[in-house]
Amino acid sequence: MRRAIFPGSFDPLTNGHLDIIKRSLPLFDEIIIAVLNNPAKTPMFSVEERCHLIREILHSVKNGGCDLIVDSFSGLTAEFAKKSGATAIVRGIRAVSDYEYELRMALMNRRLEPSIETVFLMAAEEYSYVSSDLMKQVFLLGGRVEGLIPALVEDRMRKKLAKNK
Ligand code: PNS
Repeated sequence: MRRAIFPGSFDPLTNGHLDIIKRSLPLFDEIIIAVLNNPAKTPMFSVEERCHLIREILHSVKNGGCDLIVDSFSGLTAEFAKKSGATAIVRGIRAVSDYEYELRMALMNRRLEPSIETVFLMAAEEYSYVSSDLMKQVFLLGGRVEGLIPALVEDRMRKKLAKNK
């Protein structure tokens, strides 16, 4: 059983995240999309909302026999991976600028849990500039984010915006 976790804030899930999930499918039997509960940050969506939204989106993804599970965690990613019985942490790399940060995290995670490897996957070129923060910023300023985030995410962002007005 090859189990991996794909940790992140996912506030919200973008098409870049979805691309990495799809690329991971043939590599593992089970992938846990692990949503970080970070009390130090004020997110747009609560952890519960993010998990629910990701589950809804993954519903229509052809998983090719790989089980996709959505869970949340607090604390250390390496600890959550170990506790979940995962042997790998999946992370996406969009551009060279991601590399230094990701390398530091991968090395720290390896020091914390030497049995767990970080697997880096290269995001599709068309999503190489897509981040949750950029999507939120552009959306909140009225810009178009169509094609960069799932339609369901855009819909929930619109509803969230209307509610907070
Ligand atoms: O989607 P993000 O915000 O780039 O994800 C970053 C994340 C959640 C993977 C990272 O911040 C993390 O692992 N946080 C949990 C705390 C932790 O383990 N810190 C040490 C990492 S070396």
